[in-house]
Amino acid sequence: MIQGKQVYLRALEREDLKDLHEIQNDEEVMSWARSKPDHMVSMEALGKEYEEELKGEDTLRRTFVIVHKKSGKVAGWASLRWWRQFHTTADFGIAMRRGFWGKGIGTEVLGLLTRLAFEQYNMHKVELFTRPDNLSMIRAAERNGFKVEGRSSETLYFNGRYHDGLAMGVLRKDFEKRER
Ligand SMILES: CC(C)(COP(=O)(O)OP(=O)(O)OC[C@H]1O[C@@H](n2cnc3c(N)ncnc32)[C@H](O)[C@@H]1OP(=O)(O)O)[C@@H](O)C(=O)NCCC(=O)NCCS
Repeated sequence: MIQGKQVYLRALEREDLKDLHEIQNDEEVMSWARSKPDHMVSMEALGKEYEEELKGEDTLRRTFVIVHKKSGKVAGWASLRWWRQFHTTADFGIAMRRGFWGKGIGTEVLGLLTRLAFEQYNMHKVELFTRPDNLSMIRAAERNGFKVEGRSSETLYFNGRYHDGLAMGVLRKDFEKRER
């Protein structure tokens, strides 16, 4: 369990799939996260997607359930991903229920998982990819020492046209410098 001020993070359990299913079928949440073009996923498909992680098998992703301490509710989930084994960079992803937005939780979770990536997984860098209009994600990243590293032109497609994407990243040395 990873303790924060407002939330704690724990490993994904089979019963969390119900919460994930609800969040991953919320069009407003998922249109920011951009993981499925139609913002819909079936329970069975979710189960299949997370099966290896639930069984503790070695995967290139680690999913954390975000539990809001005050209410005891599942606020959302966050993940660290590696594009291949022995890679030195982790990719961060997060999605939370709308009721938990704007309370500083996203900033806190990103900080907790960035520290985990450096201090426990021995990563050199943490990256994330977001929409240029996702101001709360960009700000949460900046608060954790991330910098915009590039703008990928017309790499996303939704609402009938192409959109740019933003790559952000923080090196371990810059994160540690910031924490002192
Ligand atoms: C993106 C997300 C994780 C951010 O988490 P959050 O808890 O809502 O963000 P925080 O409350 O920590 O706010 C972060 C910063 O953004 C600012 N912010 C929040 N909403 C904002 C808005 N609409 N416009 C500008 N700034 C905004 C906050 O004031 C804060 O800055 P500050 O610390 O300088 O005051 C969350 O909103 C979410 O789950 N969104 C849907 C899914 C998603 O977008 N995932 C990310 C995909 S890359």
